[in-house]
Amino acid sequence: MRIDILTLFPEMFESPLKYSILKRAQDEGIVSIAITNIRDFAADKYRKVDDRPYGGGAGMVMMPAPLFDCFEHVEKLAPRRGRVILLTPQGQPFRQAKAQELAQEERLILIAGRYEGFDERIRIGLGAEQISIGDYILNGGELAAMVLLDAVVRLLPGALGDEQSAQDDSFSEGLLEYPQYTRPEVFRGMRVPEILLSGDHAKIAQWRRQQALERTQAWRPDLLERSDAPDE
Ligand code: ADE
Repeated sequence: MRIDILTLFPEMFESPLKYSILKRAQDEGIVSIAITNIRDFAADKYRKVDDRPYGGGAGMVMMPAPLFDCFEHVEKLAPRRGRVILLTPQGQPFRQAKAQELAQEERLILIAGRYEGFDERIRIGLGAEQISIGDYILNGGELAAMVLLDAVVRLLPGALGDEQSAQDDSFSEGLLEYPQYTRPEVFRGMRVPEILLSGDHAKIAQWRRQQALERTQAWRPDLLERSDAPDE
């Protein structure tokens, strides 16, 4: 998969891309990630990319021209256009199902905005879909783009090394994860549940399923409405 990111703050992406799964997935050619600075496409000598909103009001709006020029440049860097995504609090909520859907694509172009928002012609003209990572306002779309990137890349075949683990994770079926334990057997008086020491794999699987359902019911009942396993 190829992921392009258009941003005014390319340096913000440096550290997250340098570690762990995101680094390994790039090193192994599972994903290639390219960051492009929108400001490099500003037309004037002040490198201006934002302006005051028509109709008045506080804050600044991202101008369409630098973004269109940047986008048209980036588009040509690879053969396929791919999905174009604006990160904005106005977008559809980002969930695991969306991460899975995006992980099937050959190319994504993510646009991270700053200031109060994008000139509306950017969304319309680029045919972009809008995604929000939650109902709160961030200072810009960069952290949201990183969240999306992280969630998508770990789903790409080979990214985790162990294919099973992305499957078993919380949310892959719309349920929270069952409780996990490692050594020691007793820690500060708290014991590992007996069943996990029994070696009975069928019973363990059943117990884990039950735990996952109970926790979801207790902590995130809203998830059960969307889950594949509601009648259990
Ligand atoms: N930009 C600012 N806030 C955001 C959010 N919650 N999701 C995506 N992009 C954003």
